[in-house]
Amino acid sequence: MTALKYPLASEIAALMKAAETRSAEVHSVDDLEKFRVEFLARKGGIAELFDKLKAVPNDQKPVLGKELNKLRSHVESLFEAMHHRLNSQSKKEEEIPDLTLPGRALPVGTLHPITQTLNDIAAIFTSMGFAVANGPEIEDDYHNFEALNFPPDHPARDMQDTFFISEKVLLRTHTSPVQIRVMEHQQPPIRVIMPGRVYRNEAISARSLSQFHQVEGLYVDRNVTFSELKGTLVAFAKEFYGSNIKYKFRPSFFPFTEPSLEMDITCFICSGKGCPMCKRTGWLEILGAGMVHPNVFRKVGYDSESVTGFAFGMGIERTTVLRHGIPDLRMLLENDVKFLEQF
Ligand code: PHE
Repeated sequence: MTALKYPLASEIAALMKAAETRSAEVHSVDDLEKFRVEFLARKGGIAELFDKLKAVPNDQKPVLGKELNKLRSHVESLFEAMHHRLNSQSKKEEEIPDLTLPGRALPVGTLHPITQTLNDIAAIFTSMGFAVANGPEIEDDYHNFEALNFPPDHPARDMQDTFFISEKVLLRTHTSPVQIRVMEHQQPPIRVIMPGRVYRNEAISARSLSQFHQVEGLYVDRNVTFSELKGTLVAFAKEFYGSNIKYKFRPSFFPFTEPSLEMDITCFICSGKGCPMCKRTGWLEILGAGMVHPNVFRKVGYDSESVTGFAFGMGIERTTVLRHGIPDLRMLLENDVKFLEQF
């Protein structure tokens, strides 16, 4: 063997042996990396031998070069084999589930408190036979004001600061225009609730928002009476706020109802003693309502002599903060998960 004459030949053989011995000791990814650095890296054993090859007499270079290439491809295939083995091992370990571990709880979302309130209100009224209707958020002056008996320049228009899009087009300030739209398309008897978003040009504070939700109710038939209105509202309030609440009706004013009322219940934070929630009055206002004004029936083409009806409306954000004792309306809009998770 000519190659044996040169020390490089025995170095190649020695490195081959070393690589084989060391490969048997590789048990982890770290070991494998050490193996690679020792033999295959740019400054590893094999590269070193290739450097030495440069100093070998030319007639020996082909033989020794061939040996070196053999060494390199052998060590590379050792490396590949170990790499493959380690990979499939770690996969196998992953596949075996540890049955003693506690299960992973999946985070489950909840409905937003505003949606929950709306759903609860709707459930109560649908159980009394009310259907649900919707209308547009961009309204015209006619449906938002005029048909609801707000004459042009009437001061009642100032009760609701309006976002105007143009002179006759606006963002609805209440859900009452949906009453008009329903009556324009249907003949009595009518029993609907109308939930939706409304807009008012008001400074945002703990007590008021410029965008919020209302739910409106409308009942129209022959011989609908004021006591039916009161009975309906009391049944709702007891179902929603609890059967032991105390309530009272106060006379009020809305252009589209006559007579009009507002309903209060005793403050359930202080039980009527007076606290910041009820502005120290002991009472919380929960809704506005009244008997539909004959002028409204005339606008939609009903015979105001033969039909009567009642309407009511409440703010859903307001209802939500009242029922949960939330001190600031804005908390409902911050989407703070820690807050929302409590409902
Ligand atoms: N639309 C009135 C408001 O926004 C509430 C209301 C509705 C009052 C229906 C009476 C009847 O203030």
